[in-house]
Amino acid sequence: MTLQVTRSNHLIDLTTGHPDPDLLPVDLFRSLSLERQNLAYGQQAGSDLFRQTLSEWLTEDYGQPVNADELLVTNGASNALDMICSLLSQPGATVLVEDPCYFIALKLFKARGFNVVALPMDNEGIELQALEQAIEQYNPAFIYTIPCFHNPTGITQPHRRRQALVKLAAEKQCVLVADEVYQSLYFDQKPPAPLASYDRNAPVLSIGSFSKILAPGMRLGWIQGSGELLHRLTNSALLFSGGGLAPVTSALVGALLARGEFQSNLTHLRQTYAARSEALYDGLVSTFGDQIQLKKPDGGYFLWVSFVDGRDVASKRDQARALGVNYLPGNLCSASGQFRSSMRLCFAWYPQPQLITACDRLGLVFS
Ligand SMILES: Cc1ncc(COP(=O)(O)O)c(C=O)c1O
Repeated sequence: MTLQVTRSNHLIDLTTGHPDPDLLPVDLFRSLSLERQNLAYGQQAGSDLFRQTLSEWLTEDYGQPVNADELLVTNGASNALDMICSLLSQPGATVLVEDPCYFIALKLFKARGFNVVALPMDNEGIELQALEQAIEQYNPAFIYTIPCFHNPTGITQPHRRRQALVKLAAEKQCVLVADEVYQSLYFDQKPPAPLASYDRNAPVLSIGSFSKILAPGMRLGWIQGSGELLHRLTNSALLFSGGGLAPVTSALVGALLARGEFQSNLTHLRQTYAARSEALYDGLVSTFGDQIQLKKPDGGYFLWVSFVDGRDVASKRDQARALGVNYLPGNLCSASGQFRSSMRLCFAWYPQPQLITACDRLGLVFS
């Protein structure tokens, strides 16, 4: 991977799902310092002080109580997913995913030896009838879902769908892993609470991360859950041997949370990304009109665009790059290879002028 603070002068790369380097709040970190205890092996679930501070912010942000003892500190969401895979993998095990899905999660599951089965989505998320049938058919190790500002489609599961999904997981005793890294990146309305808050007795784990709401270089995230699953993760050999993860970074981020500086920065990010998403949305609508289908983002990082005539977007990528623009073809986000006439565009990595130029270039590619 190239260093993630450099952008090409020639190519506007809307595949890149990272924060704009200019929005990484390096000044916030200058005045922070560490205590001796931050340099020691930490508590297995992560620093008690940090989990308390994190739980207070999450309670406020979610509008639902989150207790410190429901949280396990990780090195970001990818690390959390990998720990869950490590806990639940068995020879021949299946994971059920949404189609389309976060493409790197698909890679991770395959690398961990899982059989990956893609299930259809409607405009409220994963289709429950298909999910129920697949649970019967495959007896999966877990279901992987992105309930909020879905990567790549931007869909947010409404409250009723979430209730029904968690109820199904509880009834079938099937582990439900919710990747909720965009939960706090809402532009206007707060989304419904993360899935782990719906039923403390259901086998649900919600994953959060500071990558998109502060800085990915912190490699800091968490798993929210209760009961047996969280207990098994916390008592894994990895944490028994190494102590809790991220004692240094969690101390730094904990200080920013306690001072309210993290929260002010997040408000700024929400406003900035809202304006960018609007610029990209408006640019696409004015370039393509009714040739495309797309939904105005309510949060997150991505816009999902589908050509209504079913044209093959995937095969135009080289031509697009030659014209100075890049996108993620939908089929690369699909475990079933579908969605060749769709593309995922990230609006977080560039400011408005580049997003508008990108729309002009996409217009040339697909005219
Ligand atoms: C849905 C989803 N999960 C996880 C990640 C990675 O998160 P982290 O940087 O915390 O590992 C991303 C980043 O693009 C993402 O979109």
